[in-house]
Amino acid sequence: MKLKYALAAASILALGFAGTSSAEVDAKAAQALAKAERCTKCHDVEKDKKGPSFKSMAAKYKGKADAEAGLVKFLSTGPNDHAVVSKGDAAAIKNLAAWILSN
Ligand code: HEC
Repeated sequence: MKLKYALAAASILALGFAGTSSAEVDAKAAQALAKAERCTKCHDVEKDKKGPSFKSMAAKYKGKADAEAGLVKFLSTGPNDHAVVSKGDAAAIKNLAAWILSN
């Protein structure tokens, strides 16, 4: 009985962790990548520069389930001659997209 209870508790904990970790954003890593890639030359968190602010992108995509995947694609393929992320792997690009949407 005791063991069964412990196992149930452990699986609930594991589920909880899986749920939060996928939504967690490493903001520091994302900002460092944005700086290293010179995204900040055209994008600011708050203000529109040459490109729209990250805040306005987050507002535009708010509530859209496929927004993160869309930004990952945008930052990987660079349509309209837009800059692509060259220094990060897939996980880093995903984190950057998630961070942009978290602003
Ligand atoms: C030379 C200036 C410039 C640089 C450098 C640049 N961007 Fe942009 N970005 C723009 C402009 C202008 C737009 C809006 C037009 C467009 O969609 O191409 C844009 C659009 C975007 C969008 C799409 C927003 C939407 O509404 O879908 C994202 C996301 C983005 N930039 C992120 C980045 C990231 C991350 C980097 C660094 C890898 C970066 N940008 C580098 C100018 C720039």
